[in-house]
Amino acid sequence: MGRVALVTGGTRGIGAAIARALKDAGYAVAANFGGNEEAANAFAEETGIPVYRWDVSDYDACAEGVARVEADLGPIEILINNAGITRDAFLHKMTPEMWRAVIAVDLDSVFNMCRLIIPGMRERGFGRIVNVSSVNAQKGQMGQTNYAAAKAGMIGFTKSLAQEVAAKGITVNAITPGYCETDMVRAVPEKVLNERILPQIPVGRLAQPEEIARAVLFLVDDDAGFITGATLAINGGQYMA
Ligand SMILES: NC(=O)c1ccc[n+]([C@@H]2O[C@H](COP(=O)([O-])OP(=O)(O)OC[C@H]3O[C@@H](n4cnc5c(N)ncnc54)[C@H](OP(=O)(O)O)[C@@H]3O)[C@@H](O)[C@H]2O)c1
Repeated sequence: MGRVALVTGGTRGIGAAIARALKDAGYAVAANFGGNEEAANAFAEETGIPVYRWDVSDYDACAEGVARVEADLGPIEILINNAGITRDAFLHKMTPEMWRAVIAVDLDSVFNMCRLIIPGMRERGFGRIVNVSSVNAQKGQMGQTNYAAAKAGMIGFTKSLAQEVAAKGITVNAITPGYCETDMVRAVPEKVLNERILPQIPVGRLAQPEEIARAVLFLVDDDAGFITGATLAINGGQYMA
């Protein structure tokens, strides 16, 4: 059996594509999810990938979840911090709850998961962490001050942790996907998608989740040990940082 990989939010959308790609490449994969049991069970049944429910914004829940995964599969060697939510509104209409929810799920989660998993990676002298940020971290997006702040925070976190653990055989990278065909983007009104978003994408279409997964596979490979602290854009040319 290959190395053990955990994908947060790994039962739908981009995370599900990453989990599948890792499994197909021979990794022993666990997929976490937040609350949609129906989607998670269907995913587990179809792929054979075990699924684990916990809230990544809750540190104690993460500790219990990591312990369960490690009891079942062994020490986690690859961590994909993918779980994320949006709560869009212009700032003058954004409630403190909308702000806190996005910071908690999209950014606190990265601290929670890395804080719990990094000591074992350091001891074993190997690890791969990929943090799923967003093009909107780099270019900003009206209606997403909360999301852009959380996703930009992930990039600073990535660069800092990468420096701390580089000598321990652990790489930490961020990817910044552009608009990808998942439930998150299906929630955007069709008019906004067709008239405002698609015209900004030179490739002329949304990404498929599998195209994001391909980049993750590349970054987690044993042979990718010299790539760390990087921010890899996968955005169809929408923004060239
Ligand atoms: N789609 C895009 O265009 C796009 C672009 C750039 C970046 N991203 C980022 O890529 C990641 C995946 O996006 P997506 O579009 O695939 O999202 P999605 O289809 O909405 O799926 C989100 C996944 O995250 C899980 N999740 C949500 N809140 C959670 C929590 N508190 N604890 C544990 N798991 C939780 C969900 O579990 P449940 O099924 O239980 O809800 C689900 O498995 C996100 O971080 C997103 O910000 C997406």
